[in-house]
Amino acid sequence: MIKNNNPIKQFLKIIIKICFIVLFQFSTTSESSLPKPPPIPVLPIPKSRQISWNIAEMAIFLHFGMNTFTGKEWGKGDVDPLIFNPTLLNATQWVTVAKDFGFKRVLLTAKHHDGFCLWPSKYTDYSVKSSSWRNGYGDVVGELADAARKSGLELGLYLSPWDRHEHCYGETLEYNEYYMGQMTELLTRYGEVTYVFLDGAKGEGEKDMEYFFDDWFSLIHQLQPGASIFTDAGPDTRWVGNENGVAGTTCWSLFNGSAVTIGGDNDRIYTSEGDAFGQDWMPAVCDVSIRTGWFWHESEKPKSAMTLLDLYYKSVGRNCPLLLNVPPNSSGLISDEDIQVLEEFSKLRNSIFSHNFAESALVSASSTRGDSSDSQFAPMNVIEEGLYTYWTPDQEQQSDWTLYLEFQQAITFNVLGLQEPIQMGQRISEFHLDMLDENGKWQHVVSGTTIGYRRLLLFPTVKSHLLRLVIDKSRACPLISHIGIYMDSYSVTQHVSDTHNKSKFIDNFVFRRTAYNQSRSASI
Ligand SMILES: *[C@@H]1O[C@H](CO)[C@@H](O)[C@H](O)[C@H]1NC(C)=O
Ligand SMILES: *[C@@H]1O[C@H](CO)[C@@H](O)[C@H](O)[C@H]1NC(C)=O
Ligand SMILES: *[C@@H]1O[C@H](CO)[C@@H](O)[C@H](O)[C@H]1NC(C)=O
Repeated sequence: MIKNNNPIKQFLKIIIKICFIVLFQFSTTSESSLPKPPPIPVLPIPKSRQISWNIAEMAIFLHFGMNTFTGKEWGKGDVDPLIFNPTLLNATQWVTVAKDFGFKRVLLTAKHHDGFCLWPSKYTDYSVKSSSWRNGYGDVVGELADAARKSGLELGLYLSPWDRHEHCYGETLEYNEYYMGQMTELLTRYGEVTYVFLDGAKGEGEKDMEYFFDDWFSLIHQLQPGASIFTDAGPDTRWVGNENGVAGTTCWSLFNGSAVTIGGDNDRIYTSEGDAFGQDWMPAVCDVSIRTGWFWHESEKPKSAMTLLDLYYKSVGRNCPLLLNVPPNSSGLISDEDIQVLEEFSKLRNSIFSHNFAESALVSASSTRGDSSDSQFAPMNVIEEGLYTYWTPDQEQQSDWTLYLEFQQAITFNVLGLQEPIQMGQRISEFHLDMLDENGKWQHVVSGTTIGYRRLLLFPTVKSHLLRLVIDKSRACPLISHIGIYMDSYSVTQHVSDTHNKSKFIDNFVFRRTAYNQSRSASI
């Protein structure tokens, strides 16, 4: 054999070897440092306009119109428009109240069942243009739209399908044309509208009158692609099924729109709990009035701030936006007593939720998706606010997905807040929180079913330095975008027994009057 002693060849060989080593090294290191993509979303997932409605969390519903002046809840459409005269009307005041106390949207009854229009519609004279207010030159919708835009609040409008004044009501084709003409005015004259609210109410004896819902929905989405439409059956948000502002303790944004009818006698449990097997993304909305009625009546008083806090836990805390009705009075202003309650409600929420104990915790997990050097799905993400940073386990882990929160010093708390990144689909259907007690034993604190956009659970006060959140059941690998650990010193929990005679805590509570009154004189 001839030995290859050619130095040039030797040199080239070494160079090639080095190149291979470098290439190999480079390719392996780059492979392992490339981040793992997010897991596959679980259908159905929300449209962007639906995500914004969840993020807004709370909106003010403004029932205002002829009924404000007559003391009625449902006008017949026969009242002289001259009596509509809200002499001090100031939409900036409505919007300022909403904004100052934590509401992101305002929703106005542009037309209620009596057919009176709060804007000068060209298709009827039964509107502000025939009223004494501003000599017929006023436009409530226009003033609210301007005020909302200036303060950065989103605008929603309610246009009642039932119209007890309009003479063509009852003639299906003619009335649907009239309704769509008015809807077009509302959605083309006033800038961006992000919410359109309808119901299926019809007059007695008008059973033959048909509403062309599909045509209306197509028109609304064509004119305002960012607008979510509310009815009992979507398409974008569904009615929770009661006017008490309370959602089911299990509450899926998943739903079968085809299982309910608009204005029909729907299954109230189905609408308040949703459907783990639902084919449509259609979150529930909780609507409730701050007063007894929807319109302002001199004799009625607002609910207390503590009642509103309770409703907050039972709506926003159960994965549903809260649509709170605050009706302007006959002067055209939100009454002082309502403003006071809203201010207290806002202070209560701030005092409870502005301090998240979890922010001082060391967070770890049973497993984490991707490389440990890759922080994209890291457990610590759960203390960051917002939907777009989250923890998720390794896909190999199939059960007992767990997050641990360790504190340097024991913390005292009674509220757990959780969020799922809903843009990836709603997944979790069972979870529980445990804490390590003084004897080093795990104790059960609270359990729940669904989470969704936000879940808040209130329980008797506990103290610990180590907590674990266990996800027991999920439609696919669970994702957690936020954990909040709070102290609510105003509410107390009830200890109740369920039907299996097994004692458990529910997130229901009565008011601890003394604590509330003390805090009121101290901080509110
Ligand atoms: C309307 O309300 C706003 C906010 O409360 C206030 O600043 C403004 O002065 C009011 N305008 C009138 C004309 O009263
Ligand atoms: C909703 O639809 C899914 C899929 O068709 C079905 O499995 C589920 O039973 C439906 N729910 C109801 C209440 O009809
Ligand atoms: C409406 O509320 C305002 C306070 O914002 C108040 O000054 C006015 O008197 C109220 N009007 C009526 C009719 O109660």
